[in-house]
Amino acid sequence: MGQYKKAVQFSRTGEPSEVVEVIDMETSSIKPGMILIDIEAAAINPSHLLTLSGGYGVQPDLPAIPGAEGIGIVKEIGEGVSNVKVGERVMIPPYTGTWRQEAVVKAQNIFLKFPSEGNPIQMAMIMANPPTAWLLLRSVIKLDVGDWIIQNASNSAVGQYVMQLANIYGLKTVNIVRRKGFDELVSDSKGNICLIDGPDLKERVVEATKGSPIKLGIDAVAGDATQRLADCLEENGTIANYGLLSGEPCSLSPNDIIFRNISLTGVWLTMWLRGRGSTQEQRQSVYEELREYIIDGRMHAQVEATYNLDQIKDAVKHAMKKRNGKIVLLPNN
Ligand SMILES: NC(=O)c1ccc[n+]([C@@H]2O[C@H](COP(=O)([O-])OP(=O)(O)OC[C@H]3O[C@@H](n4cnc5c(N)ncnc54)[C@H](OP(=O)(O)O)[C@@H]3O)[C@@H](O)[C@H]2O)c1
Repeated sequence: MGQYKKAVQFSRTGEPSEVVEVIDMETSSIKPGMILIDIEAAAINPSHLLTLSGGYGVQPDLPAIPGAEGIGIVKEIGEGVSNVKVGERVMIPPYTGTWRQEAVVKAQNIFLKFPSEGNPIQMAMIMANPPTAWLLLRSVIKLDVGDWIIQNASNSAVGQYVMQLANIYGLKTVNIVRRKGFDELVSDSKGNICLIDGPDLKERVVEATKGSPIKLGIDAVAGDATQRLADCLEENGTIANYGLLSGEPCSLSPNDIIFRNISLTGVWLTMWLRGRGSTQEQRQSVYEELREYIIDGRMHAQVEATYNLDQIKDAVKHAMKKRNGKIVLLPNN
């Protein structure tokens, strides 16, 4: 009889907390070129919830293990593996189902390591949201030191990383949220402003920025929120949409498109990871840069709660509520 470890699985799509179940999975033998990783931490992101409900851009064949990112310790290596050692802490390769206690992956897909000391939770969140923030600031339009950007859903993890990375790059940020709380974390001394969304947003942005031109709007919400960002942009400005949190189509008036030359574009990390606009060397260098900021604390996301795998239904329900930070799974706790 082999050893069994826990994993979360879904065999159908639907209401996320209803479709997830915990199963026992037999530990597979480690073939040449493969490694076994004990998963330390894995976040629950909106894209995982969308996948569970069947609405994400790429859906796995079912049954599947949810989760797409995480961090873990190498426990065993197969024959011929030389790029990783037992005991090293590694980023789980993108899109490996991570809501499980252990995973077997190809050693050649490991391209980022972390020091084995330190809390793994912030490290576990490097794969998806930090490079999305990087793409939004570095791949859409050219931004120079001192330029302003505006974003919504700013208290999301991506929003927090956008603000932190913008500060590292010398950019000023207007951060829009839909409720109070996050404003307390936003520091004016770094050139950041936080405002609550609303119909008079444009006037309040003009007042807060003293009418400074804003080149880029970063939109995770879509619907009417897209138009409210567009209203705040200078002529020839760009909206980069990367999320569909409202579930509504992006709204953008033809007056803005035609007479003010406002453009709307999309950013999707998955395409970048698959090589659209990037090479493996560039991706490696971006992840190494972001790793430095995560280790030294310049980039971090608030965490509201941690759960083990047996508590998966509660964890998923919690992730679907209004909250002040991420819900993170600690599969081996
Ligand atoms: N395109 C890409 O490549 C890419 C990559 C990574 C993430 N994303 C997207 O980025 C977004 C943020 O992800 P995350 O992991 O950073 O999120 P998160 O930390 O889990 O936070 C969720 C955020 O969504 C906000 N929100 C939820 N429903 C909303 C609505 N109807 N209107 C306005 N705000 C709403 C929440 O605001 P409250 O706190 O007020 O509830 C909170 O700020 C998601 O849409 C995700 O799918 C896209």
